[in-house]
Amino acid sequence: MSAIKISPSILSADMANLARDLDRISCADYIHVDVMDGHFVPNLSYGTAIVKACKSTTDIPLDVHLMISNPDDTVDWYIDAGADLITVHYEASTHLHRTICHIKDRGCKAGVVLNPATPVSVLEDILDDLDMVLLMSVNPGFGGQKFIPRTLDKLRRLSAMCREHGVNPLIEVDGGIGSGNAEEVAAAGATVLVAGSAVFGASDPAAAVEAIHHAGELGYAKIGA
Ligand code: DX5
Ligand code: ZN
Repeated sequence: MSAIKISPSILSADMANLARDLDRISCADYIHVDVMDGHFVPNLSYGTAIVKACKSTTDIPLDVHLMISNPDDTVDWYIDAGADLITVHYEASTHLHRTICHIKDRGCKAGVVLNPATPVSVLEDILDDLDMVLLMSVNPGFGGQKFIPRTLDKLRRLSAMCREHGVNPLIEVDGGIGSGNAEEVAAAGATVLVAGSAVFGASDPAAAVEAIHHAGELGYAKIGA
């Protein structure tokens, strides 16, 4: 089993041909579904209908990234729609512990997302409860942005924090990732790599997933080497 997982973001897929695009990335480990509410982030994407559509089309686990204010109000909708893993933003949550416990009680995996300016130290008292930590490597809201290099140091600090706590959540990174930087991102501690434009903007999306995966595995091999 590979240490590195790839989660293509359908934000860059062709929504008029979603089933075809999902079929093209059948080698992926997760499908990353970016839900944007036009309030927490300055963009509106899609909601439960697309989660349901993915669920009816693929067996690949759905990694649902909620870029929404007050996730407590609607998180159940996404669980009911078929999400396998849900991440909520630290910056958007008032009762984060309650939200995470609720998602897990409903049989779904749960994670917390941090924006680029939010330090990993805010996870100190929630880390032990998480299945995933997602570090944004761009400001959320749009695909096709440039990777923020400081994320690498943040990944290393998060990995050290996980070791100190004796926990091993999935560590996901989202934004500006492709085969050109997947190696350094994985070497810094990421285990799940999100890629939107680098996958669906490629002429062969499956080959793009494989290339990012291969680069990520090279980076993972450097850890502890
Ligand atoms: C940004 C989204 C990302 C985005 C990544 O707000 O959370 O998942 O789709 O797109 P790329 O890989 O193009 O940066
Ligand atoms: Zn995302």
